[in-house]
Amino acid sequence: MSNRYLLDSNVILDYLLQRSFSDSIKLYGQCLENDISILVSSAQLHTIEYVFLKQVKLDAPTQIETAKLAFKAFLNEVTIVKTPALIEQNHPLALRDMEDYLIEISAEAADVTIVTRDAGFLRLSKRCILTEQVLLNLEAEKTSQASNKVTFLDLKTPHIVLRAELEAAFDRTLNSGWYIQGNELKQFEKEFADYCEAEYCVGVGNGLDALHLILRAYGIGKGDEVIVPSNTYIATWLAASYADATPIPVEPDLNTYNIDPALIEAAITPRTKAIIAVHLYGQPADMDAINAIAIKYNLKVIEDAAQAHGARYKGKRVGTLGDAAGFSFYPGKNLGAIGDGGAVTTNDADLAQKIRVLGNYGSQIKYHNEVKGYNSRLDELQAAFMREKLQKLDEWNGRRKLIAADYLRQMSGSNLVLPFVPEWADPVWHLFVVRSQQHDVLQKQLGEAGIGTMIHYPIPPHLQPAYAELNYKQGDFPIAEVIHQQVLSLPIGPHLGADSTAAVISAIQSSAAILRKVY
Ligand SMILES: Cc1ncc(COP(=O)(O)O)c(C=O)c1O
Repeated sequence: MSNRYLLDSNVILDYLLQRSFSDSIKLYGQCLENDISILVSSAQLHTIEYVFLKQVKLDAPTQIETAKLAFKAFLNEVTIVKTPALIEQNHPLALRDMEDYLIEISAEAADVTIVTRDAGFLRLSKRCILTEQVLLNLEAEKTSQASNKVTFLDLKTPHIVLRAELEAAFDRTLNSGWYIQGNELKQFEKEFADYCEAEYCVGVGNGLDALHLILRAYGIGKGDEVIVPSNTYIATWLAASYADATPIPVEPDLNTYNIDPALIEAAITPRTKAIIAVHLYGQPADMDAINAIAIKYNLKVIEDAAQAHGARYKGKRVGTLGDAAGFSFYPGKNLGAIGDGGAVTTNDADLAQKIRVLGNYGSQIKYHNEVKGYNSRLDELQAAFMREKLQKLDEWNGRRKLIAADYLRQMSGSNLVLPFVPEWADPVWHLFVVRSQQHDVLQKQLGEAGIGTMIHYPIPPHLQPAYAELNYKQGDFPIAEVIHQQVLSLPIGPHLGADSTAAVISAIQSSAAILRKVY
């Protein structure tokens, strides 16, 4: 059952005028009651207002002021979606009734079903359903067992919720006539720097580029070594490889899954130039300990903050805890673009400027190239979208935290190893990762219960064919290997409803009991 419907004008007018079509009135009420969004196309508004007020004037002229207030209240109850500009004049619906056609294409753009009681509209439409049918479906859903399918990642809802803002951002950008390195990017960089409590932000093409460009800007390259966690997404290692340096893996702490500072010194050689600390799964790494080692050996500290937008370490935001930080705006991240994107944050003016130049073909002044640079810039359109999404980041991270707290509380009696949060960490729960010696059995059982899960990550970088040249073998980084063999990520996200989290908890409670305890 959908949680959004676009209502035809006749259905809305039945409700507003309390006409004798009781199904329309019932449906409108049920939408409000069950948190089902009522969508209205901008093309309908004029007709609805005109017919409504005209009828009130005829039937009860003294009530006209009350009716105007009722219309305002109605506008607050519904979500208005825009009507696409591209029309097909010879479409059968357009030939029959232009308003119905505009409703149809608005619903198509919003990817939503139209509810009508007009049989003619129903016949020619690809997405109409009759009022009485929706009521029957709602009833059937109430009486049947609620479906407990929980997808691992819901990328669509955050964008549906922000549709109006994202459309406005699109129009702003389109109308600006400036699509690379324009005002939207400038504003986003300022707003994201402020958010991270950093002095500078430079938008780049993606998270991997962010890390790579930082290394390049520091002059790290051939013959140099960069310390990276053995337990991370391969992009952290690739950044070092892109810079022609060698990634030197250091094992994680088995509790936090982040690089273990106590093991870093043993990996330092005269060639070591930097440490990349990853805030894995949204939990900050132990940056004070890492910075202390870096000071002792004169190393750069780079945060891989791809999974941790908004997390705090001892009260400070990630993104300012080392010399520079790389962020990814891959769509599934806590702050994601509608495509690829990335950024570097730093308090180092010189570094920020170098990265800006490196990402723009090595050029500050058009057609003057100081160095051999790259083309790695954050698109104007993505920057415009993310300005809107950034305003929601704290609220959405807050919802992740509530879900994580619920999971931690309700799964505490299970045989699973639950995430551990040190007292200095304020994580943003990019992922909620549990551990089991039988993570594949658990994944299968949860799958049978309709719960989507993922493994982050199934093969550690040192055992990937891509790094065969480093000649690592099974057993070289046993902690990372154990983690990769045991982890399972449960669904978490800002729009995961209470029904879904309850379904995850109940599926875990019935599955985990039969699994062996992890030591
Ligand atoms: C830890 C980590 N580092 C770096 C990256 C690279 O980011 P991107 O995919 O934007 O290049 C990612 C994400 O994919 C990541 O999870």
